[in-house]
Amino acid sequence: MKIFLDSADIDEITALSDTGFIDGITTNPSLIAKSGHKIEHRIAEICAVIDGPVSAEVTATDYETMLAEGRKLAAIAPNVTVKVPLTRAGLQTCRTLSDAGTKVNVTLCFTSGQALLAAKAGASFISPFVGRLDDIGQDGMGLIEEICSIYANYDYATEILVASVRSTQHVVDAALVGADVVTLPPKILTALYQHPLTDSGLDAFLQDWAKTGQSIL
Ligand code: E4P
Repeated sequence: MKIFLDSADIDEITALSDTGFIDGITTNPSLIAKSGHKIEHRIAEICAVIDGPVSAEVTATDYETMLAEGRKLAAIAPNVTVKVPLTRAGLQTCRTLSDAGTKVNVTLCFTSGQALLAAKAGASFISPFVGRLDDIGQDGMGLIEEICSIYANYDYATEILVASVRSTQHVVDAALVGADVVTLPPKILTALYQHPLTDSGLDAFLQDWAKTGQSIL
C-alpha cells in the first residue's frame, strides 16, 4: 500500500521525505490556505522535494474554469495530479484531463456510486473520506470495502486513495481491505511507527549493552 502525506507544510514534508516511505502528497484548498503561500509556489516547492504524485486541487465550480485551472496546475511540474471535486463538472473535467494524459484525483467521495462514476470518468485516484463519514456515524471503512469490490469486478485501474484518515487503525483497516493508497496527516504517520513497548524495550537493550563495554564500530 502506498503512503501519501496529507500536508502543504514544506518543512513537515521535507523532514519526512528522507524516511523513504512517502510515495506522494495530497493537498487541498484548506491546507494551502493554512500554509499562507500561493498555490503555484507551494506546489512547485513540494514537487521539487517529492518524486511521486502531488495532488493540487482546483477551486472553480464550473467545467470551463475548472479545466483551465487544472491545466495550469498540471503545468507546474510533471508529477502534479489535478484534484477535482466529485461534482458533475468535476467528473467532466476529469474525463477531459485524463483523456489528455493528465492524472486526476477525484476528491470528496462519500458513496460507492460516486466512486463508480469517477472510475468511468478515467480518474487515476478516487479519494473517499473515511473520517468525515465516521464523524457523522456512518461506516467509512465499509465504503472502502465496497469500492474495492466494485473496482475489482470491472478491473478499473483507478486507485483507491483513503482520505480523511483519523487514526492508525484506519491505516491498518485500509491495508486489510486492500486499498491502494492512504493519505496521512503527519501526526498519524509518526504514530504508525511509535509504540511504548518499542521504546522501553530499546532502553533495556541499550542499558544491558552499555554494561558489556562493547562497541560495534
Ligand atoms: C485529502 O486528500 C483530503 O483532502 C483530506 O484527507 C481531508 O481530511 P480531513 O477530513 O481531515 O480534512
